[in-house]
Amino acid sequence: MKKWVSALAAGSLLAGALAGCSNAKETATNGESIPTVGVAIYKFDDTFMTGVRNAISDAANGVAKVDIVDSQNSQPTQNDKIDLFITKKVNALAINSVDRTAAGVLIDKAKAANTPVVFFNREPLADDMQKWDKVYYVGAKAEESGTMSGDIIADYWKAHPEADKNGDGVLQYVLLKGEPGHQDAELRTEFSIKAIEAAGIKVEKVAEDTAMWDRVKGQEKMAAFLAANNNIEAVLANNDDMALGAIEALKASGYFTGDKYMPVVGVDATAPAIQALEDGTLLGTVLNDAVNQGKATLNIAAALAKGETPSKESTGFDIQDGKYIWVPYVKVTKENIGDVK
Ligand code: GAL
Ligand code: CA
Repeated sequence: MKKWVSALAAGSLLAGALAGCSNAKETATNGESIPTVGVAIYKFDDTFMTGVRNAISDAANGVAKVDIVDSQNSQPTQNDKIDLFITKKVNALAINSVDRTAAGVLIDKAKAANTPVVFFNREPLADDMQKWDKVYYVGAKAEESGTMSGDIIADYWKAHPEADKNGDGVLQYVLLKGEPGHQDAELRTEFSIKAIEAAGIKVEKVAEDTAMWDRVKGQEKMAAFLAANNNIEAVLANNDDMALGAIEALKASGYFTGDKYMPVVGVDATAPAIQALEDGTLLGTVLNDAVNQGKATLNIAAALAKGETPSKESTGFDIQDGKYIWVPYVKVTKENIGDVK
């Protein structure tokens, strides 16, 4: 009996040792080994991140094997998934953290296992980024998207004197904010209003609330804004899903029929938002380039996974301050809709 147990133990030890020795690399048809990249998304149920996720898979074709997991909007869940990736000896990690302040802990784990890591979409704090040289970030400058969405509203206001519904010379607006603390929510909010003011327009905030990037919440919050205020002249939403939710609530209040109109702007340029732009309900949006953000994330991770130092030549993207890749935003209105499509 004892012999049997020890033989079994030895067997499993051996299997464990073998698993420990082999890393996750696979072999491509041309004989070159393909590295494995463990990708964690903050939650699958997010329209824009679904676009980024698909772009990562597409870019991985023939370059890397990607294992993409859903962190279900829970940082503890994501930490467990990262531990598992490290145990499985993936060659690099790509992380869309749930809580961006959790990056420090994740970097410590990755560094201890010598597994390079690329963060994307949720920017780690600058101090955390400095913890290790094999840490990168792929994102877009949130300020830029805020400024662009504010400019769209400012242009509309200037071209349409009737937009000042109460004729007081002040733009009364409501704002639907993304997740508080997220750089895109904080900076889009701040810079969109700054852009309107910079265009010489006086503003008054009628209401602001978070709708957590979510369409249904955007609809509910907008319905509440409409029920409590009758002086709203513009709607700024930190992303398209919330803008589309707001449009639903506005439609239910009789907007977008006859000449009852409300300017609404979003960010992302998702497919349904482009449709709304064509329908004339959404005034404008800002392209948050999921394709290039996904591609940059994968290319940087694949280079790191192969033990290389990522460069513009190997990844196709400019790398700033040794670790940041910034993908530009593009302002989208009816005029340039064709370019985006
Ligand atoms: C933003 C995007 C939002 C949401 C968020 C998730 O960049 O505009 O729609 O996807 O990222 O972190
Ligand atoms: Ca007014």
